[in-house]
Amino acid sequence: MKILLMGPPGAGKGSQSAKLVKEYQLTSISTGEMFREAARNNEPLGIEAMKYIHRGDLVSDEITNEVVRKRLLESDAERCFLLDGYPRTVSQAQALDAMLLSMDSKLTAVINIVVDKEAILERMVGRRVCKKCGLTYHVSFKPPKKPGICDDCGGELYQRVDDQPESVRNRLNIYERKTKPIVDYYSGRGILKNVDGMQSFEEVYKDIINALGEVQ
Ligand code: AP5
Repeated sequence: MKILLMGPPGAGKGSQSAKLVKEYQLTSISTGEMFREAARNNEPLGIEAMKYIHRGDLVSDEITNEVVRKRLLESDAERCFLLDGYPRTVSQAQALDAMLLSMDSKLTAVINIVVDKEAILERMVGRRVCKKCGLTYHVSFKPPKKPGICDDCGGELYQRVDDQPESVRNRLNIYERKTKPIVDYYSGRGILKNVDGMQSFEEVYKDIINALGEVQ
């Protein structure tokens, strides 16, 4: 399985990807998470990326493509992986095609999670993430048992810097202009499936599994 999970910010990519990765033992490649981890470790990459992430802008294609290229060359990404948040521009999609071709590989499925614009702001403003294990919660839709504490590892929950309303609006604009055209880029290859992301977590997951069954 070489899967790309796409959709607007807050569509539920991270939530669904966590379950898919666990269930199917896939290697998770999330560019957003890679940038945040580099920032937590005070690495130059993370410090540079955070300048863009704070504002809700995209990190440059050049930096992002290089991060993914290196990650795809690691042995655990050879057989199966799940890409979340990359590619995000047509230029990144072209770069990914070239990388995979040079590795004699290709995507086997592209899952596009579709959600209403109105739901996105509410989802993102209420999102809380575990500092320790990265698990995602929502204050109303998926609250932790104890407020502010991760059910799984007991870590402290925090709000992402780019989940402030102004940053979210910018991310949505960028999604419409730069990322949405990728749907057209992949349609026609017979591997793109749209999934309704306005359903419950469980129903979205079930539809993703069904969609994967149709294209694999
Ligand atoms: P990234 O981390 O990839 O963020 P994103 O794509 O904007 O997506 P999110 O993580 O915000 O949302 P999600 O779809 O994963 O939703 P989640 O499951 O958390 O990127 C962050 C930044 O890094 C970018 O803005 C950019 O600056 C940079 N970057 C990353 N990749 C890049 C690239 N390729 N090129 C350039 N720059 C890049 O869910 C959201 C909330 O909703 C949660 O609280 C969740 O509990 C809730 N929720 C989820 N599903 C449901 C449901 N079915 N019902 C009710 N609530 C739900």
